[in-house]
Amino acid sequence: MKIQKLSRARGTITVPGDKSISHRAVMLGALADGVTHITGFLNGADCLSTIDCFRAMGIETEIKGTDVTVYGKGLYGLKKPERTLYTGNSGTTTRLLCGILAGQPFDCTISGDASIAKRPMGRVTKPLSLMGADIENEYCPLIIRGKRLHGMDYHMTVASAQVKTALILAGLYAEGETVIHEIEKSRDHTELMLRAMGADIEVDGLTIRVNKAERLAPQDVAVPGDISSAAFFLVLGAILPDSEITIKNVGINPTRTGIIDVLRDMGADMEIKNERTSAGEPAADITIRSSELHGTEIGGAIIPRLIDELPAIAAAAVFANGRTIIRDAAELKVKETDRIRAVVDEFTKCGIAVTETDDGMIIDGGRPIHGADFATYGDHRMAMSLAVLSQCAEGGSTIDDESCVAVSYPGFFADLYGLDDN
Ligand code: S3P
Repeated sequence: MKIQKLSRARGTITVPGDKSISHRAVMLGALADGVTHITGFLNGADCLSTIDCFRAMGIETEIKGTDVTVYGKGLYGLKKPERTLYTGNSGTTTRLLCGILAGQPFDCTISGDASIAKRPMGRVTKPLSLMGADIENEYCPLIIRGKRLHGMDYHMTVASAQVKTALILAGLYAEGETVIHEIEKSRDHTELMLRAMGADIEVDGLTIRVNKAERLAPQDVAVPGDISSAAFFLVLGAILPDSEITIKNVGINPTRTGIIDVLRDMGADMEIKNERTSAGEPAADITIRSSELHGTEIGGAIIPRLIDELPAIAAAAVFANGRTIIRDAAELKVKETDRIRAVVDEFTKCGIAVTETDDGMIIDGGRPIHGADFATYGDHRMAMSLAVLSQCAEGGSTIDDESCVAVSYPGFFADLYGLDDN
């Protein structure tokens, strides 16, 4: 597909609902005693995979656009699926399901697409086995034999909200207390939602304690816009001259706002307005204007707070004066594709000075770049980052697969092109 170029980007948009919160609202809604109404649900491929898996386990759901109703059957109400649970491209569905299914009174199998088959699942299956889980294979397909679980005291070895959540969910079924120590603070949507549903869960810094639950009280969930989707427009607004974009109702949970800190640090002209709390999650409207950016260093504790935004941040770095160094981000190698390799290979095609390192990349920005024929590797966030990068390149660009944006942002190109007011 040829990427259309905007002369400038001006306007107000609302990005789709948060992917992480949408997944959790369906999963925890299914395990609650009664009905959960979700508004602002991300009606994208990944979250639909979650709904599909729960339907296969007897959970009725109604989808009307971004309104979803989940008819929960309680923690012990899932039925054995008669088919393999297919999680598509969704790492979150796959890993969180492992936590729920490990303690069920039935066996089942999970598999996904070609990308999922390459993503490491040992990071969830190994700690779950310490709770008594029986899961065969470290890559999909995973064969899960339901077992009685027991609590544990576990020090995580990766900074991952998916791993943390799988262990918390298993903890709801485990005898005794489950204590999880994170190495860095990762997104805490599960903890917030479970607390609101009455679960016995406590968070003290990097330590989470959860106890076996008898019931979860259903909670209506108003999902805020996904900051990971807003990221593309935050970067676009900053790098494209004469631009001003307002993004309404973006989730600004502090475990997710690393991109705001980094763009501010790079000199972005950004305003956060109308801060409010919706279903326990903070949200706000964000306005970004064309900015003179400069390079920065990104590493350490901020990485889990912006892990999904790094391809977009890398695009911002290309138009920032000076050097940007991204480190401590080796997790990028095990996302939907190896996002370090993918960014380096694709950016290099435009004449960008970008070097791959063991745990990140170095970008020397502030030089003119030209368009190119890009590969997306079937990765939604690569596709959207390359579409944004192309806006500021000399000449035209193409991407080989625009359909992958449907994983998290089906209307991305319509929203992008709608910002051209000329
Ligand atoms: C997610 C956690 C992150 C993130 C993913 C969604 C979640 O993955 O990259 O898009 O909803 O818990 P990791 O846990 O692998 O860091």
